[in-house]
Amino acid sequence: MSLYYQADDRVFQKLRAAGKTSWDEQADPQASFDNFVMRPFLEESLAEMAGPLDGLSALEIGCGSGPVSCFLAANGLAVRGIDVSPTALEMARQHAAERGMNVQFDSADICHMPEQQDRYDLIVDGHCLHCLVSDEHRRTALTAIHGLLKPGGRFLIETMISHPGLIVGANYHLDARGVLSIKVDDPAGRDGAFTSGSEWFAPYRRLLSADQVTTELRDAGFAMQSHRVAEQKDPRKPMLMQIRAGHRPT
Ligand SMILES: C[S@@+](CC[C@H](N)C(=O)[O-])C[C@H]1O[C@@H](n2cnc3c(N)ncnc32)[C@H](O)[C@@H]1O
Repeated sequence: MSLYYQADDRVFQKLRAAGKTSWDEQADPQASFDNFVMRPFLEESLAEMAGPLDGLSALEIGCGSGPVSCFLAANGLAVRGIDVSPTALEMARQHAAERGMNVQFDSADICHMPEQQDRYDLIVDGHCLHCLVSDEHRRTALTAIHGLLKPGGRFLIETMISHPGLIVGANYHLDARGVLSIKVDDPAGRDGAFTSGSEWFAPYRRLLSADQVTTELRDAGFAMQSHRVAEQKDPRKPMLMQIRAGHRPT
């Protein structure tokens, strides 16, 4: 596991040590394993899908400790969740077992997927895409997801985006390309680490505009079925974009 991903694994170690169950509980006091941030968008999107959900196959990229994957399984889908964080995957397997959910959780990097994978009726990105910083990683991941989606299948994305009113705190640095870097104590092994003033920063997230995200998706072969920017309580923070996409008709 590269240092780039180890930062997220450390977050899950801290969450587990604090008795918390999911990523969203870090910042949102209302959040819980069952009350995850993407839930309203997922509920609405599943309700709009034609036909029964039972037996449809779903892949969640960046499943973390499993709230989204378990929600999909509870709705009758056959779910596979993938993540690069070993701690998150351990937590996900435990949460699924405690809830009697049969979800397959695998260690896999969406930027380095083997060929000849199964294809899915539904692919869900619950806040993973903005974790992919470089243009190359994002392009590779979106191309892989396009190949993993069945013809007629649906790709649901909830992702952070930048906007003109965005202000990042002193622990972060945002450049003109939308690369959000985080302050680090030790730059050793951190790809792209740089100094600003007397502090070290390392690339951490990518915050593109809504237009840039839709362009990336179109370039990867997706057609946008709907997209919108969700209401944001704090207008200085990154906004959340909610997208439904599918294969572009040939
Ligand atoms: C913001 S967390 C969201 C976790 C989960 N979807 C949720 O809603 O609680 C993003 C997750 O993406 C995972 N991730 C980051 N880069 C990844 C990659 N290249 N392939 C697979 N998972 C990745 C992280 O380890 C982390 O678990």
